[in-house]
Amino acid sequence: SGPDTVSPTGQPTGADQATVAQGGAYLTTAQGLRLPDTDHSLKAGPRGPVLLQDHHLREKITHFDHERIPERVVHARGAAAHGVFVGYGNAANVTKAAFLDKDVETPVFVRFSTVLGSRGSADTVRDTRGFATKFYTTEGVFDLVGNNIPVFFIQDAIKFPDIIHAGKPHPDREIPQAQSAHDTFWDFVSLHTEATHHTIWNMSDRAIPRSFRTMEGFGIHTFRLVAADGGTTLVKFHWKPKAGVHSLVWEEAQLISGMDPDFHRRDLADAIEAGAFPQWELGIQTFPDTADQTFEGIDLLDPTKIVPEELAPVRPIGLLTLNANPSNYFAETEQVAFHPGHLVPGIDVTDDPLLAGRLFSYLDTQISRLGGPNFAQIPINRPHAPVNDMLRDGLHQDAVHSGVAPYRPNSLDGGCPFTAGADLGGYVEVPVPLPAATKVREAPASFADHTSQPRLFWLSLTPIEREHVTAAYTFELGKCHEPAIKERNLRVLADIDPVLCARVAEGLGLPAPAPSEPLPSVQPSPALSQIRGTWPVD
Ligand code: HEM
Repeated sequence: SGPDTVSPTGQPTGADQATVAQGGAYLTTAQGLRLPDTDHSLKAGPRGPVLLQDHHLREKITHFDHERIPERVVHARGAAAHGVFVGYGNAANVTKAAFLDKDVETPVFVRFSTVLGSRGSADTVRDTRGFATKFYTTEGVFDLVGNNIPVFFIQDAIKFPDIIHAGKPHPDREIPQAQSAHDTFWDFVSLHTEATHHTIWNMSDRAIPRSFRTMEGFGIHTFRLVAADGGTTLVKFHWKPKAGVHSLVWEEAQLISGMDPDFHRRDLADAIEAGAFPQWELGIQTFPDTADQTFEGIDLLDPTKIVPEELAPVRPIGLLTLNANPSNYFAETEQVAFHPGHLVPGIDVTDDPLLAGRLFSYLDTQISRLGGPNFAQIPINRPHAPVNDMLRDGLHQDAVHSGVAPYRPNSLDGGCPFTAGADLGGYVEVPVPLPAATKVREAPASFADHTSQPRLFWLSLTPIEREHVTAAYTFELGKCHEPAIKERNLRVLADIDPVLCARVAEGLGLPAPAPSEPLPSVQPSPALSQIRGTWPVD
């Protein structure tokens, strides 16, 4: 189990130790040795050479040399806050998750982020935003690791290194920082057209939010909820900001990037400090858990597709309030470790192949980012439920475990206190029947349509929003050097909408290509509330 704020030897650890070190009557070394001077190296005479025997100099510099840890491989730049989640109690018919029961208050930690930029990049770049929530429930940690855009670039996690290598700065000059306006990004998304839907959202105002406080959040994948009676329901999670959805315009975003690169993190921290606590409602779209896992012809395992809210309304099931800023950026915001596999009873995963890869990736990356396998003991990552695992030793092990038998079954440490089984109330995976299948490396036919939902999105926009999308494609593609990449992207746009394609082509000074096949018949939606954000805000 993880340590508390007092170590097994009785010494204060973590935040308490920091307070002692910076607020105590005198300074000490890390070993507790009292120091009268930390301003001068030990020298042979005031002007003489510095002596190697200066243990305090060596300790101070050595520790400083190792202050940095690797930034996240994606979502490196972020800001976070503490808060509370209160369940409305109206989801019991679909899930037994205790934190969703009526009026149950669960502490949370939420980290917002950009995806592509490095830790020191600007906040208001055109990019997807991460929206990751850690619920410290009484049944263990539940992480909802989502984004502010409801779809993703790829349908299979094996393509994640490809899309990120294409989106990150060019490997030769490491530019541009945190912008998608470059050849490799547009090269990839025009060759791998399942990225088209996410890309058009990125070219919309959604990718330049006014504030973290005015962003929606989406779990994206379909999850499987389990009720107390064992009944299962497929769901998509949504966060709806009480402050409404608001964006910057591109000129504002660019100016702010220069004038205040910390605009979003400052806005979040200032609002919380002023007592204007940001709030979101958690909502679910629910779908019957059928054998084919589709709804109204939409494959629920395809993370490049939404289910329009006209077809499946979002039901609000709880309220999130962010009410406290972190006291130490490194300890909390930098060291927090989210993982889509942190689940609680009542919430299970589906076979979305993107989600499957994520279930491997987060724990794997955190072992190197946080220096070994014991990062669940870092205070921000500690569950608020009792921990009784048999994980032992390893780098950065802070716990002093007692007993001799961290294995089951045993007859030494009081024997085995449990037998595996659902009757003890633990987490049991839903016994989903698997179809007879053949081992293949291929996507289902239902993943093949990459065009109709981008077209649905375009048709749902207001004229001014369409102007913004057109301008964004023109600006971003205008930064590409390779003419063939611009032309290939125009062909992708031709398959979305001829007007969009013609306007961007005109802006780029290129001829507009014809669509490769008849455009999908999609009805313009007068109120596609997935995009419009209609929501029962009180
Ligand atoms: C980090 C969301 C797909 C690998 C993150 C973060 C978010 C996020 C919000 C930042 C968490 C934080 O604030 O600390 C998503 C969403 C996805 C997606 C919504 C698709 C629906 C993937 C895939 C992979 C992946 C497919 C790999 C196969 C990672 C890694 C990190 C990360 C390695 C860094 C984690 C860390 O260092 O703690 N992702 N991601 N993500 N994601 Fe994803």
